[in-house]
Amino acid sequence: MRIVMVAALSLALCAGCSAKRGEPISEPLKIDNARVARGERAFMANCNKCHPGGEKGLGFALNNKPLPGFMIKAQVRAGAGAMPAFTKELITGEQLDEIVEYVALLRNSPPPPRENLKQEQ
Ligand code: HEC
Repeated sequence: MRIVMVAALSLALCAGCSAKRGEPISEPLKIDNARVARGERAFMANCNKCHPGGEKGLGFALNNKPLPGFMIKAQVRAGAGAMPAFTKELITGEQLDEIVEYVALLRNSPPPPRENLKQEQ
């Protein structure tokens, strides 16, 4: 099952490029869809140096609390303290959605349903 998913993932990621089948892909987490896999890549490129693996680094831990998606997005767009703001040129809206999905996976629980988000505010 895992192998099938990895194969599907590598195909999805490699659509349009010359597929190198059989190349090992090592993922620390069980990434089971292409969106989350893209989220992981964007996280690694932009966030991981300060939030290593979602743990506390220079920035706060992201994996120890249920951060609502809108909060993560607001933080990324606005920045705070030592955290820089990321414009749409640096991280597109879609990439940010994918980062949010990846961060939800890091804390190993699904993001709260949208209806509940409004009540929390
Ligand atoms: C240069 C270091 C740095 C980078 C890069 C960085 N952060 Fe941060 N992050 C921080 C710091 C420092 C804080 C605490 C800011 C404060 O004082 O409120 C923080 C806080 C946060 C918070 C709020 C956490 C909380 O508990 O309230 C979120 C969410 C967050 N970062 C997400 C991200 C995401 C997603 C990315 C990548 C797009 C990212 N950060 C990139 C340093 C960084």
